This record gives sequence, structure tokens and C-alpha cells, in this order.
Amino acid sequence: MSSTPHSVAVNSYNSNHAVYDQHRLSYSPKITEKFLIDLKLAKGSEGSLKTDTNKKILELASGTGKFTKLLTTYGWSDTLTVVEPSEGMIETFSKNFPHIEAKQGSSYDIPVPDQSYDVVIIAQGFHWFSDDRSLKEINRVLKPGGMFGCIWNFDAPSGAITIAPADPEVEIIYDDTHKNVKAAEVPQLVGSYFEAHPWAIATADFTYSYDVNVPQYRHGKWREALTKDKTYFRPISKENFYLFTTTIKHDDVPLYWGTRSYITKLNSEERAEYDSKLSALVDETVTENDKSIENDTVYLKKAVGTHTIVLEVNK
Ligand SMILES: C[S@@+](CC[C@H](N)C(=O)[O-])C[C@H]1O[C@@H](n2cnc3c(N)ncnc32)[C@H](O)[C@@H]1O
Repeated sequence: MSSTPHSVAVNSYNSNHAVYDQHRLSYSPKITEKFLIDLKLAKGSEGSLKTDTNKKILELASGTGKFTKLLTTYGWSDTLTVVEPSEGMIETFSKNFPHIEAKQGSSYDIPVPDQSYDVVIIAQGFHWFSDDRSLKEINRVLKPGGMFGCIWNFDAPSGAITIAPADPEVEIIYDDTHKNVKAAEVPQLVGSYFEAHPWAIATADFTYSYDVNVPQYRHGKWREALTKDKTYFRPISKENFYLFTTTIKHDDVPLYWGTRSYITKLNSEERAEYDSKLSALVDETVTENDKSIENDTVYLKKAVGTHTIVLEVNK
């Protein structure tokens, strides 16, 4: 069983942390508020959230602090601890949050005492370490009744959105409307949302062809790990999707995709080839509906999905 973080993760995030911080997407307040309610960290409704900042949160795999930023906006400071293995990520995190100490550590050895946190949150990271040893360690640091939540942004429909039949009804939020749907309807609804933005799907498919089989959200292995064994966590109790569009500069598309670990790994020749093929693909597939020009700069409308899951610790 693995006991150190995946080398591709740590090596690439050690080198690309500054670009990652600038070009990776953050998380929308809309789904974040729902996530905090599901994690029993807040009450109320959208836009009038009442957070309980006495609850202690451990954010694991905090990276440069994209999700930490939201937690601080909602009022957490002294009751928030962040843990991250990559020195590079910690370097940028410390610039972003000089008042928060990032503890160096990993899911295999979380540097905090037993039963010391109400909630563990992982943003865009659990797929790197969805194994028994990490689940046991996350279970160890949670208090009885504690909650575990994961949030991911995704760029295209994939196997990871397939919901096991035993899972609960899910909520899908399209820009401004909420819709409770049966789990079985999710893949089709997510698929049709993305189909309206063909360049987003084309660039995702092209980039995935470079993936050298490092653990990724879209492979869905994390769901298998959570469903096959209930020793450490009860079944997923809440699951939500948020589908929306954001704006990205046309010329920043290679930088956006370049934050992926398996693209960071390319040598300079391979990277130049990737960037030029990617840019050509954008121009071939982008529709007028997804394109706008302001002061001579071309902007693209990019479809994004966000997925959250919440589970209660089994202890
Ligand atoms: C895609 S980044 C996400 C960072 C940040 N949470 C965000 O939302 O931008 C994945 C993070 O997982 C971290 N990571 C990889 N393996 C880990 C492990 N076994 N334990 C804890 N963190 C790990 C990486 O160093 C990296 O910072």
C-alpha cells in the first residue's frame, strides 16, 4: 500500500505552483455555500448564510489555497488548519495567506492529533490518494459524528459523474435554477449542458490524450474506494453538481490546461507542440456564441462543472 504522495503530483506541483495559482479555476460561492450547509458548517440559504466558525476544519491537499480563500471569506481563521505535501504549493500558499500556517504533510500521515476536527475538506485532490490508508487516516483525525467533504471542478462529462444506484437524489444547479434529479439522470443532463460548448469538450478530450494514467477525478476510482468498503465512512449522503460558464482569455487556454500535472511534465518541445495543436483546436471548434471581443482581446465562454460529495465518518 502506498505511503507517500504520488511523485507526479508532488513533482509537478513543486514546479508549476505559481502558474497553477494564476490559471486554475476557483470554486463558485454558489456551490460552496451548499457544500458548507451539507457539511453542517453553516445554516440558512444562498446569500444569507450563517456559518459556524467554531467548528474546526482541516483542509487537506490545500495547494495554493483556492478553496482556503473561500473558507476565510466565510469567516474561518483560528479554527482552520491546512495540510499540503508539496513545498512549491506551500510557497505560494504562504504568499497568499501569510497569517495561516500550512503544515507540510500528506494523507498518509496527517500532522494533527486523533479526533481533533469536525470536518475534513479536500478540494480537487482526493483522486490522488483515494486509498484505504488515507481513508483510515482521515477517519482518525475526525471527531465522532465528523463530516468529510470533497469538491472538484471538471471540464467535460466523464465516468466520474456516474452515480451508484444506492446513492441519494442529487441536486443539479444550472446557473440560476435548482433541480432535484434522480441519480440516473445526471450523466445525460451534464452531457447536454457541455454539448452546447463544443470547444470545451474538444480541448478536454485532446488534453486527456496526454494523460499518462496518473490518478484523475474523471477516472472515478475515488467513488469505488468510497463505495466498496464502509469501514471508515458511511455512504455518501449528499451529492451536488453546479453547471456554469466562466470567461477565459483565448490566449490563456494553454496556460489553463498547462496547470495539469501531466502537461507540466512535458519537455519544452512536447509542450510547444501541445500548445500549438490546442490553440488550433480551439479556433476550429469555438462557436460564435462562446466568443466575444473586448478592446482587441478575444474572450471565450468556458463551460465548467463542479461536483461535491459529503459523507459522515463511521465512528
Ligand atoms: C489539483 S491540486 C488541488 C489544490 C487545491 N486544493 C485547489 O483546490 O486548487 C492537488 C493537490 O493535492 C496534493 N496532494 C497530492 N497527493 C497528496 C496526498 N497524498 N496527501 C495530501 N495532498 C496531496 C498536491 O500536492 C496538490 O496540492
